[in-house]
Amino acid sequence: MADIETTLIEERSFDPNEAFAKDANLSPGEYTELISAADQDYENFWADLARKELQWTTDFEHTLEWSPPFSKWFVGGKLNMSVQCLDQHLKSWRRNKAAIIWEGEPGDQVTLTYAQLHAEVCKFSNAMESLGIQAGDRVALYMPMIPELAIAVLACARIGAPHSVIFGGFAPKAIRDRVEDAQCKLIITADGGWRRGEVLALKANVDEALDSGCPSVEHVVVVERTENPVRWREDRDIWWHELVDQQSTRHDPKAFDSEHPLFILYTSGTTGLPKGVVHATAGYALWTKLTSKWVFDLKDEDTYWCTADIGWITGHSYIIYGPLQNGATTMMYEGAPNYPAEDRYWDICERHGVSIFYTAPTAIRAFMKWGDAHPMSHDLSSIRLLGTVGEPINPEAWMWYRTVIGKDRCPIVDTWWQTETGGMMIAPIPGVTTTVPGSATAPLPGIDAAVVDADGMEVENGKGGFLVIRKPWPSMLRNVWGDPERFQSTYYGKYEGVYFAGDGARRDEKGNFWIMGRIDDVINVSGHRLGTMEIESALVSHPNICEAAVVARPDDLKGQAIVAFVTLISGDADSKMKEELQTHVANEIGAIAKPAEIRFTDALPKTRSGKIMRRLLTDIAAGREVGDTTTLEDASILRRLKSDDDE
Ligand code: WT7
Repeated sequence: MADIETTLIEERSFDPNEAFAKDANLSPGEYTELISAADQDYENFWADLARKELQWTTDFEHTLEWSPPFSKWFVGGKLNMSVQCLDQHLKSWRRNKAAIIWEGEPGDQVTLTYAQLHAEVCKFSNAMESLGIQAGDRVALYMPMIPELAIAVLACARIGAPHSVIFGGFAPKAIRDRVEDAQCKLIITADGGWRRGEVLALKANVDEALDSGCPSVEHVVVVERTENPVRWREDRDIWWHELVDQQSTRHDPKAFDSEHPLFILYTSGTTGLPKGVVHATAGYALWTKLTSKWVFDLKDEDTYWCTADIGWITGHSYIIYGPLQNGATTMMYEGAPNYPAEDRYWDICERHGVSIFYTAPTAIRAFMKWGDAHPMSHDLSSIRLLGTVGEPINPEAWMWYRTVIGKDRCPIVDTWWQTETGGMMIAPIPGVTTTVPGSATAPLPGIDAAVVDADGMEVENGKGGFLVIRKPWPSMLRNVWGDPERFQSTYYGKYEGVYFAGDGARRDEKGNFWIMGRIDDVINVSGHRLGTMEIESALVSHPNICEAAVVARPDDLKGQAIVAFVTLISGDADSKMKEELQTHVANEIGAIAKPAEIRFTDALPKTRSGKIMRRLLTDIAAGREVGDTTTLEDASILRRLKSDDDE
C-alpha cells in the first residue's frame, strides 16, 4: 500500500529535553488532563477551550451539531477573525511588538508591528468595501510572499469575504479554474514577485486567465512589487497603492457567525478539478491558535518562522492565523532557499534570531545535499524548536535535522495534517512526547485518530491500514465548495460518520503513528498534493497525445516524482517531444506538476474492463519487480513497457 518505507526495527527515541520541558507551554500533567477531559466529555472539552481562547462578541449556544458529513461548531456564537489576530493585541503591550518580519528575496525588509499591521488591514478592508466587496463575496489572491498578501488575507477575514489564495506557481488555466469555481468578484495580484533573481509575471498570468474566462471578476488590484511592465485595463485594474492611499486606518469590524466561511483553499483530489476546501471561522480559529501554542510552544519572546508559502494551508494556518492569534512574531520570506546562495535560510535565521523553524522534509533533504558547511557557517543558537510537515520524513533526514540544525538540543515536531483538517492532528507536544525519528507520534488532545481495515475495524499495532478520524473536530473542512456530494463521497463515503484521510498508516507498540503516504491516486511532490487525473488531463490536451497515465516513483529529494506514460497520435517519440510535453504540463498547471520522466509506449496496460493498471506502471516506474498481472488484458504490453527502461 505504501511506497514510502518506514523501518519496523526499533529506532532511537528522544525524551523531552529537561531544560525545554521546564518552561514548556504544556506540561505532562496538563497534557494528561486535556486528554482525559476530551475523553470524558468531548463537547464540554471543546466548549471550555473555545470560551477561554476566543474573543466572542456573542457567546455560542451549542457546541456541536453533527450530521455527518456536516458539522457546525459553536453554534450561535459571533466573532471576527481579524479581531482575534489583531485588535485584541492592541490593548496590551503587544501593540508595538513585531507581528510580521518580512524579508524580500532581493534583501529588502519590512517589519510591521501589531498596530501597524492593524492599520494596514483596516485600510485595505475599507478599500475592498469601496469596491463593493461585501461579506460572503469571494476574493482571489494570486500574490508573491509579500506583506500585502498577509494584509489582504486579514482584510478579507475582517470584512467576511472568504479568500481563495491561489499559489503563485500556478499557471493561468489553474487560476481560471479556481476563480470560476468560486465565482470570485475580485482578484488581488502583483506586477511580479522575485524568485531566484527573476521576476515571476503574476499580473500577466491573471490577464491570461481573465482573457479566456472569469466573467465574475469585476476588479483586479495590483501591488507594485517588481516594476516590470504590465498590461492595463483602465476599467478593471487598480494599483494597490492608489486604492489604499486615501483610506482610513480605522475600520469597525462586524462580528460574523461561528460558521461563516473564512476561506476556500483548493487542493488536488483523484478526479476532476481540484476541490475547494471550505473552512469556517470559529473552529478553525480555535484549533490553529491552540496547536500553535501546544506544538510550537509559541511564546512572546519567539521569532517564529514557517517557510511555507501562504498559497498552501500551512501558510494560512501557521504563518498567519495561528501565530497572530497568539500575539507572536511571525517571519515571512519571499524567495527561494538557495538564492543568492544555499545558506539563505540559515542566514535569515541568524540575522533575525529565529527561535522556532518549521519546514518540509523535501527542503531538509535539499539542505542535506547542499552540505553541512552552509548551516555550520551560521550561528543558529537562537533556534530552540524544529518542525516538519508535508510528507513522511525519512529517519535519516530527521536525524540530520536534529544534529546539524538542532545541535541535539532542539525538539523536533513532525506534524501530520491536511488542507482538510485545517490544523495539526497527529504531532508531538515538545515538553511531553518522546519522539521517534520518522513518526508523527500521537493524536493531539481532542483528536480521535485510528488505523482501520477495509471494514472500518481497528487493526492491530504493527499492521498497516487506513488512517481515519472518528470524531468531528472544530477545524475540519465544512464542505467542498459547490459540491456537497463530493464532500460526502470523498471523506465520509468509505466509513459511516468517520473521516477518511486518504493516507495509509500503522501504529507501533507504543501507540505511535507512522504515516505511510497516500493510498489514492494523489502524488505528493515536495509536500504538495497533485492529482494524477489533473496531470493526465493536461497531457491529453496536447494535440500529439492519445492517452496518458501518470504515476509516482520515490524520489530522494522530492519524496515522490511524477512519471508519465503516454501514447502518441502523431509526432516523434524523442527527447524534443518529451521536453515539449513537460513544458505543456507546466503551462497548463504549473511547474510543480511537470513530469520528471516521460515514457512513450504504444499501449497502456489495462484490465479487461479497460481500467489502466496503475499499480503495474508504478512498479515499472520504480524499477521494481512487477506485481500480480493476472487481470492484465494484453500481457505483451508489459514486456514492451519494460524494455523501454533504457530510455
Ligand atoms: C497530505 C496532506 C498539512 C500541510 C501540508 C500538506 C501528507 C502531511 C505529513 C507528515 C507524513 C504527511 C499526507 C497528507 N503529510 N504532513 N507529517 N507525515 N505525511 O497539506 O497538501 O493537504 O497534503 O500530506 O499524505 O494526507 P496537503
